[in-house]
Amino acid sequence: MKTLGNKKIGVVGVGNMGASILEGVLARRLTTSSRIWVYDKAVNKAQSFARRHHVGRASSVAELLEKTDIVLLAMKPQDFTSFAMEHRSLFRPGQGVISILAGMTTEKIAKALGKNVTIVRAMPNLGAKVGQSMTVICGKNKAALSFAGTLFAGCGEVVTLPEKMLDLVTAISGSGPAYFFHLMELLTDFGVKQGLPSTVAEVLAVQTGLGAALLAKSSEESCGELRERVTSKKGTTEAALKTLQRKKFGKIFQQALTAAMNRSRALRKAV
Ligand SMILES: NC(=O)c1ccc[n+]([C@@H]2O[C@H](COP(=O)([O-])OP(=O)(O)OC[C@H]3O[C@@H](n4cnc5c(N)ncnc54)[C@H](OP(=O)(O)O)[C@@H]3O)[C@@H](O)[C@H]2O)c1
Repeated sequence: MKTLGNKKIGVVGVGNMGASILEGVLARRLTTSSRIWVYDKAVNKAQSFARRHHVGRASSVAELLEKTDIVLLAMKPQDFTSFAMEHRSLFRPGQGVISILAGMTTEKIAKALGKNVTIVRAMPNLGAKVGQSMTVICGKNKAALSFAGTLFAGCGEVVTLPEKMLDLVTAISGSGPAYFFHLMELLTDFGVKQGLPSTVAEVLAVQTGLGAALLAKSSEESCGELRERVTSKKGTTEAALKTLQRKKFGKIFQQALTAAMNRSRALRKAV
């Protein structure tokens, strides 16, 4: 398996995503804990992460940048502008920066940090928490993209795309976990309404979702082909799917995805 070599990685912000990405990297032994440094404005978060995973804790951004080769920015987008204003002078020319900040374009990051930093943008998703993120990365520098690809492989699947695709990606895989949660929620609600205890209804819904996802992932057939294969003529599945078609579920879902994509565009312009 490809590893991160001897490059030292600094992470700014060890909240939900920063911590999950690092935990994946460590669990899959892509690097050693001695090559990781963390910094968080919330000192207790950085302390407890460093203690749990035996990584270094920098007491300042200056220390983090001095000790590491590549910096992963994992704070909220709204915290980035003040971070950049305060610390831009500490970045080295050509410094490797990987950003997971939603909506913050390469152009804006480059302008905020200056000094021709080498930027890779990444859009992971919530699956990172269980090592099953779908992460899309984009950037111009091949070596930096390859490094980021290996880093995010620690917490799931990685695909490289042009940056102009990121609003679309946000609508599909960024917001995507919530669509599947909603479908499982609807299955659970129906089970409860028809008389099942809620814990049982939820197990039926979630385990079915998990089984379907694993099957789709391991099968050579497309999702459409798998659906056709389990839909027998005049059977129960066909009865449900025909109702969805009649009510134009596909069209409604397309509208929902378009709304997510447009919202991503608007937020990007506002950041
Ligand atoms: N969650 C997702 O599914 C998802 C998916 C794709 C991308 N993202 C992106 O991932 C990023 C992180 O999201 P998250 O959910 O992990 O957020 P989070 O849990 O709030 O973690 C961010 C951490 O960064 C800290 N922080 C804020 N400003 C800082 C600064 N100047 N220096 C150092 N640390 C700072 C925060 O401290 P305080 O709590 O004290 O503010 C917090 O501990 C966001 O930019 C988001 O757009 C998230």
